[in-house]
Amino acid sequence: NRYAIRSAFFDIAAPADNPQQIADHARYIDDGVLLIEKGKIVGLYPWQQGEARVKAGWSLIDYRGKVILPGFIDTHIHFPQAEIIGAYGEQLLEWLERYTFPAESHYGDMHYATRMAAFFLQQLLSNGTTSAMVFATVHPESVEALFSAAQGLGMRLIAGKVMMDCNAPDNLVETAESSHRQCQALIRRWHGRGRLGYAITPRFAPTSSPELLSAAQRLREEFPDTWLQTHLSENPQEVAWVRELYPDRDNYLDVYHHYRLTGRRSVFAHAIHLDEAEWDCLHQTQSAVAFCPSSNLFLGSGLFRLQQSWHKGVRIGIGTDVGAGTSFSLLQTLGDAYKVGQLQQYRLSACEAFYHATLGGACALDLEDEIGNFATGKTADFVVIDPAVTALQRLRDDKCQDIMERLFVLMTLGDDRNVVATWVNGRPVWQTDCQEVAA
Ligand code: GUN
Ligand code: FE
Repeated sequence: NRYAIRSAFFDIAAPADNPQQIADHARYIDDGVLLIEKGKIVGLYPWQQGEARVKAGWSLIDYRGKVILPGFIDTHIHFPQAEIIGAYGEQLLEWLERYTFPAESHYGDMHYATRMAAFFLQQLLSNGTTSAMVFATVHPESVEALFSAAQGLGMRLIAGKVMMDCNAPDNLVETAESSHRQCQALIRRWHGRGRLGYAITPRFAPTSSPELLSAAQRLREEFPDTWLQTHLSENPQEVAWVRELYPDRDNYLDVYHHYRLTGRRSVFAHAIHLDEAEWDCLHQTQSAVAFCPSSNLFLGSGLFRLQQSWHKGVRIGIGTDVGAGTSFSLLQTLGDAYKVGQLQQYRLSACEAFYHATLGGACALDLEDEIGNFATGKTADFVVIDPAVTALQRLRDDKCQDIMERLFVLMTLGDDRNVVATWVNGRPVWQTDCQEVAA
């Protein structure tokens, strides 16, 4: 369980308040060695300096010719929705009714949920995603299945049972009281077990009565180090509906804020159609946002204002939002994020993009002390990338002048085919091939 990994490495050394700081903190080592002991990073050195530290008995893994990045962090994804990717023709509210709710109705079946959990985690790992914040379904079985599978792999996974008590099909709603009771049991059983964390998960305001939001508030008070995840201001019809349902609240975010669901470790997905006051509230409460470009394009929801999130000092991470998002690949999702930026005259650099997918995502989840880069003491979660696996990628990669250009081409042309191996907790958990040499 001691490894010395020789390869090229890229990471961002420290959290940033603006894109320029990200560039200042970028680190590229063309021929380096990453030392890992008991799942933790002992150090990252240029090979010349590190070679002498590789002791007898360590396994030396040679990934030269590849580029190693910190494991990708998907800050918003739905485990039961892999099976509806590419559902045709609808925007958010109709899409939920026509495709999403019927698909989610199967996850009370433990056998089905278990089979799909294994599939889901394989998709994450084969795409280089080592951590994710995940919506399950309203059924406790779905959470049980997902956490059991993730625990076996040693993944840093945060997930929760969807809470919903209105405006959804009868077979998917619960009472606020039973929701509270089931969440309590799941938190006691899973939160903090190994690397797993629990997220209190009211689906969104329209499927939440005031009593359900109060139940979420109570859970948060009872278990203050849990996370909270929900959806916020994704679609204009949704925003108008929330205004009708909660006429006494100032705006959409105020519905959650009123029940004290904002704060550190709260992650709001989408946050597209926000007013000034909502941005200010996100900042003041240190809440985070999951930017889901693939989903926002697929459902025609709108364009997330990345520049505004920097300007307002709101932490963001990237989310695939499968199955409204159309890919498990954070590489493809970064490519979509770039295009969303282009439509608003915002130039998303590769440096910034990979920050959001790694250390920035870790900051959004309040996990920057544990994951997100190769700092000594962090957990060894990383992805081994071959930037040129197709004929087109090889043609294009040959023309690249430096690592930033290569990474930009990777987020434009790359996907799971570029992931050679994925390591979690200092162990390879997914790989196409590798060469192990005894030191
Ligand atoms: N809003 C409420 N539920 C959902 C969901 O499952 N997906 C997306 N994209 N938005 C939502
Ligand atoms: Fe979502």
